[in-house]
Amino acid sequence: MEGLNFFFSDIMVRVLIGIFEFIFSLVILFHLNWKLTLISLCILPLLFLATRLYSKGIRRVSREVMEKGAVANRQVQEALSGVDVVKVFSAEERETARIHNFLEDYKRANIKRTVTFSLSSELLSLIGAAGGFLVLWYSGWDIIRGSFTLGSYIAFSGYLAKLYGPTQMLASVGLSFQPAFIALQRVSELMDLEREAKDSGIKLSKLQGEIEFRGVSFSYDSKPALREVSFKINPGEKVLISGPNGSGKSTLVKLILGLYRVSEGEILIDGYRAQDISLSSLRERISIVSQNTFLFNDTIWNNILYSRPEASAEEVEEVAKLSGVEEFA
Ligand SMILES: Nc1ncnc2c1ncn2[C@@H]1O[C@H](COP(=O)(O)OP(=O)(O)OP(=O)(O)O)[C@@H](O)[C@H]1O
Ligand SMILES: [Mg+2]
Repeated sequence: MEGLNFFFSDIMVRVLIGIFEFIFSLVILFHLNWKLTLISLCILPLLFLATRLYSKGIRRVSREVMEKGAVANRQVQEALSGVDVVKVFSAEERETARIHNFLEDYKRANIKRTVTFSLSSELLSLIGAAGGFLVLWYSGWDIIRGSFTLGSYIAFSGYLAKLYGPTQMLASVGLSFQPAFIALQRVSELMDLEREAKDSGIKLSKLQGEIEFRGVSFSYDSKPALREVSFKINPGEKVLISGPNGSGKSTLVKLILGLYRVSEGEILIDGYRAQDISLSSLRERISIVSQNTFLFNDTIWNNILYSRPEASAEEVEEVAKLSGVEEFA
């Protein structure tokens, strides 16, 4: 944050100095030759237009660079975390080629951004140079006719640089802000995501264990995973749910845990509507052994304690015994 504040105050100071320089030079230029000053001001709308035009392009390519970078990162991360599988199936080359493609995309987006940036700054300089040329051309005639002196021209050009300099600086500051705006936009997209209200709702101190689904449908994005599922499980009952890959078994359990909201129908737990129960009280009373086991980089003891940090030593040992961990731990 410190660095960011410094960055903004640095820019603010430069912008203020730029504005002061601009006004100061403008007054002197008008005093030296008002006609020439008006001619040199003609290029300011052009500068403004070019900045507007390039802002859009820079925003687009910056977004592309960020998105391609995120995709490439994810691919590399995935390949590294699955490195054993990659090796077992001798898929190193295939995997490398695949990642190479994503990195190529990322590189292309970066080149595009660099080219757009360079072109924009060249265009800004070109417009500035065109202004200088206009002034030279017009004052040249005046000098030949004798109505403007060479000395005045040199003074005029000097102050003109002080007028164009800050204008170009402001335009390029505007352009260099665009990638930051896009980054900020991406961060705020994340910040705007709704937070799960874990502690509002009915707090259940004990669960009987009655679970009822009434016409529950659920879709991930637009892909339906469960369609009108209804059943009732009584307390103490043991139920096995089987079905082919991707038929929605895990989704069903995730809905009970409140990890997703049902799209249609309702889930009742001990007769309460699942959405009315406080999520933390619900999750504290449900145990789950997932098919994708995940262990934290910590001791077995602490991994066992994870679901209930206040459990006693005897309880941890009991769990270790029940799960067969005790044999090797
Ligand atoms: N996070 C997710 N985002 C998008 N789609 C998902 C997500 N999780 C699961 N799906 C899709 O929802 C459907 C149901 O998936 P689910 O994991 O519930 O099936 P499953 O019966 O548990 O499968 P498996 O036997 O492989 O464990 C599948 O088509 C799956 O591709
Ligand atoms: Mg599953």
